[in-house]
Amino acid sequence: MLLHYKKIIDKELKFFSQKLPPLPIYEPIKYIINLGGKRFRPSLTLLSTDLFCEKPLLSINEAIAIELFHNFTLIHDDIMDHAPLRRNQQSVHNKWNINNAILSGDLLYALVNKLLSTSSSQSPEIHELFQQTAIEVCEGQSLDMEFENKNDISLTDYVKMIQLKTSVLVACALKIGAIIGGADSKDANLLYNYGLNLGTAFQIHDDILDVYPNEDYFGKQVGGDIIEKKKTILLVELLKNSSSEDKKIIYQTLEDKVINGNSKVYKIKEYYKKYNILKLAVQSKDEYYEKAIDCVNQISISEDKKNLIKEFSLALMQRKF
Ligand code: IPE
Ligand code: IPE
Ligand code: MG
Ligand code: MG
Ligand code: MG
Repeated sequence: MLLHYKKIIDKELKFFSQKLPPLPIYEPIKYIINLGGKRFRPSLTLLSTDLFCEKPLLSINEAIAIELFHNFTLIHDDIMDHAPLRRNQQSVHNKWNINNAILSGDLLYALVNKLLSTSSSQSPEIHELFQQTAIEVCEGQSLDMEFENKNDISLTDYVKMIQLKTSVLVACALKIGAIIGGADSKDANLLYNYGLNLGTAFQIHDDILDVYPNEDYFGKQVGGDIIEKKKTILLVELLKNSSSEDKKIIYQTLEDKVINGNSKVYKIKEYYKKYNILKLAVQSKDEYYEKAIDCVNQISISEDKKNLIKEFSLALMQRKF
């Protein structure tokens, strides 16, 4: 997946992490950076710049800022989701404690803003887009939590929530790269919309992997979304399609304080099977993937470049972790 760009990002992140002061509060930051990750958001920023000026490194600071911002959201997300594992290791609050995870997350966000404000590419458009994206991610995360205790979530509510918590950052990564590369506003917005749809398909896939990880390496707690009563695509479709009797049992199972997490996951999965929910979720994912590809087709770049983006998109849709 855009390996050439990922290598650049990994090297730059290593450098960034080595330069951090030797104070304890920086340790969780170094830890999460060194846990790795797919790095696809910053790779997209470099790619997007490369598409229009063939100098991907022009957006290296913004690419790093995007990846660090993503890592900051993961530290706080794992607290909110009570997630014990991240990237196959202990999550930050689990390894340290909640206070350290909150503060190192805040610190990381401040470092992101410092990096952006001292980069050589300065434009109000980039700053506004980045901060608007940060606002939207918080709004999305708040809806994600609010939905845990609501059972009447429609597919439209769900899509709005995941677009805010996940898709806008992918879109922002692409658009900032395009702006720095000198794209006109039509192409920059097409890349934004590509990212919005790709990010939506990506989060649907993430919801699916949470219940159906297809390899040994997943790196997160399997079934964590069911245990947390997350209104994932699977649960939203299940509550939409199940009989009223089954729905009652599903609600009871989700609220059950006596049975352990694994039995809860097992029981809910039986209903997913009964109502063929996986198939419905995959259909939704494919729909957003197709919309993403439609956007790529409209960008004013060569067919070779379009094919590169399409190959990456397909690989992302088949990710195993
Ligand atoms: C995880 O993002 C958070 C979601 C938005 C689903 P990634 O799956 O990109 O996580 P890493 O960075 O590769 O670990
Ligand atoms: C995460 O969504 C979105 C953000 C971090 C903003 P999830 O909660 O589904 O991500 P994972 O599954 O923990 O990586
Ligand atoms: Mg989570
Ligand atoms: Mg979450
Ligand atoms: Mg998830």
